[in-house]
Amino acid sequence: MIVVVGSLNLDFVATVEQLPNAGETVLSSSLLRVDGGKGGNQAVAAARLGADVAFVGAVGADDDDGDLVQSLVSEGIDVSAVSVIESEVSGVAWVTVDSSGRNTIIVSQGANRQLVLNDLARDLLAQANVVLLQLEIPLATVAESADIATGVVILNAAPAAAVPADVLEHINIVIVNEEERTMLESSGTLGENTVVVATLGHRGSSVTIDGSAHHIDAPNVSVVDTTGAGDTFCGAFAQAIDRGRGTVDAAEWATVAGSIATTRLGARTAMPSADEVYRLLAETS
Ligand code: RIB
Repeated sequence: MIVVVGSLNLDFVATVEQLPNAGETVLSSSLLRVDGGKGGNQAVAAARLGADVAFVGAVGADDDDGDLVQSLVSEGIDVSAVSVIESEVSGVAWVTVDSSGRNTIIVSQGANRQLVLNDLARDLLAQANVVLLQLEIPLATVAESADIATGVVILNAAPAAAVPADVLEHINIVIVNEEERTMLESSGTLGENTVVVATLGHRGSSVTIDGSAHHIDAPNVSVVDTTGAGDTFCGAFAQAIDRGRGTVDAAEWATVAGSIATTRLGARTAMPSADEVYRLLAETS
């Protein structure tokens, strides 16, 4: 089982010709309202590929119709450890996507910022084969989750932030993009034993173990929207590790899954099934 501890957001996705500069107003050609949040997205990516997933997160009192949670249930995800924070609203993200698929994202954290582990969450974490964490929730909750976990602990260090050495000590594998990697490396907190998996956009990904790096090429695809591609990579990577694959093998699988996610608009709407990943793997190898 994979336990994901992370954020849930309602995403407003606006499509524009060019991302606006400071002080500029641009018109959007379409607006999409979809469920998101790095935690929820990564849980969905893993579940869609066939993993047994439990999610630990928080919504606000405004999620009274339970939409943010129901969309996880409809993917077969265990939501028994999700809490409702009565004094908060649920997380919201404003996503802008340009004509070349690049995006900017602003997150208003809401209930995610109040996420603490309950007893059920602690039990799930102690039983999990793989624990997958991100940085859209309090660092103290990330630290406690990593500490309780007895399986493989993966941290997607996103959004970019420095992570203290005493937290990283409990993390087996860190997944970062280039900006996040620079941030972690410059903070000097990455230990020698931490495996670093870096996503490199259209250039693929890399896995660094004991100082030696292994590069993985991405398949050639037509990019529509990169939103959620990193989340797809993380969910697919965790699913492959849960299945017992090695780190490089898991990164190869995740690179193909993440590439497919860039060919469609939205985060969860773009996530592939295992059959799709197998098909593209077969075409490209
Ligand atoms: O990684 C994409 C996600 O980042 C979006 O779904 C948005 O909610 C933010 O958390």
